[in-house]
Amino acid sequence: MLILEENISLKKYNSFGIQAFSKKFFSLTETSQLKEVFEQSQGESIRVHGGGSNMLLTKDFEGLTLVIATKGISIINENDASALVEVQAGENWHEFVLWCLKQNLGGVENLALIPGSVGASPIQNIGAYGVELKSVFHSCEVFEIENHCFKTFLNKECLFGYRDSIFKNKRKGMDIITSVRFKLQKAPHNLHVEYGDIQKYLEGKKHSIQEVAKAVISIRKSKLPDPKEIGNSGSFFKNPILKKEHFERLFQKYSDLPHYPNPDGTIKVPAGWLIEKMGFKGIREGDAGVHTKQALVLVNYANATGMEILALAEKIQKMAKKEFDISLETEVNIL
Ligand code: EPU
Repeated sequence: MLILEENISLKKYNSFGIQAFSKKFFSLTETSQLKEVFEQSQGESIRVHGGGSNMLLTKDFEGLTLVIATKGISIINENDASALVEVQAGENWHEFVLWCLKQNLGGVENLALIPGSVGASPIQNIGAYGVELKSVFHSCEVFEIENHCFKTFLNKECLFGYRDSIFKNKRKGMDIITSVRFKLQKAPHNLHVEYGDIQKYLEGKKHSIQEVAKAVISIRKSKLPDPKEIGNSGSFFKNPILKKEHFERLFQKYSDLPHYPNPDGTIKVPAGWLIEKMGFKGIREGDAGVHTKQALVLVNYANATGMEILALAEKIQKMAKKEFDISLETEVNIL
């Protein structure tokens, strides 16, 4: 019989640092405990936390919060060019990136310092500085909640898109990712340095995965707040994808609007730019605010409630609709 804790504060289990309580709580250290957790909690609603870095808690939870804390990284196969690495879901993402740099395995260096756990990384296909998880993801093992069986999803089966996967859509809430396998590159590495700020940082330096990671860490530190100092969940909204006509209408009015064309003819524009243009950058309402250096990030200065952060987000969404006819979608899960 597993011992479930009761009435636990989730403040240290969410990077926004929001105070909310869970009626029951269990920290999972062995994947094999999953069956027992579910058998013991029949009829109870169960919510899974990875690193808690992509959620906004707006109320207490009357069910069981399951924190995935399984650990382990191992090379399970390799040849001269690449290595297949299996990582348990509870490993911290950035710690995994550091492990890869030490082993001189390439592919995740542009994703350095992204908060959260390895198990959560495929759910929204994390991405930064020109690289997305899907480019190194081989497969993942999941626990299917419905039948308590383990199943493997290969890269193609995950239907990865921009900040999107099958685990956010058709299979939302149906699986718990227990481990992820990555196909990583041995030297010579194929570097992704198209992003302007990375190029600038690398000028006159040796080009290596370690230097690219240093560049990414320095750029992120200069723009993004450290959740240990100011509560936040990274980008709060997704960058909207516009139809060509819609973009052209906006571009006539705002010729400085940054934009990134997609192969299908649609155009992605930065939500951070839109939010700054509307005058929200750096504003503060009580302890809820918009980050001073990156308008896409909402912050909790100390004791904001989830509802206060949500109210600010809704104000931004309402104005974006009015000003740009754009419905900003949240990237963060509102719970
Ligand atoms: N911009 C502004 N004002 C702002 C923020 C951005 O004008 O306050 C402009 C920038 O000047 C730039 C453009 O918007 O021209 C894009 O900004 P940036 O390169 O900082 O990236 P982003 O689109 O704001 C996305 C990801 C980040 C990721 C960066 C770098 C999304 C939702 N966000 O942000 O991901 O680190 O690109 O690749 O796609 C996250 O998901 O939590 C996250 C931080």
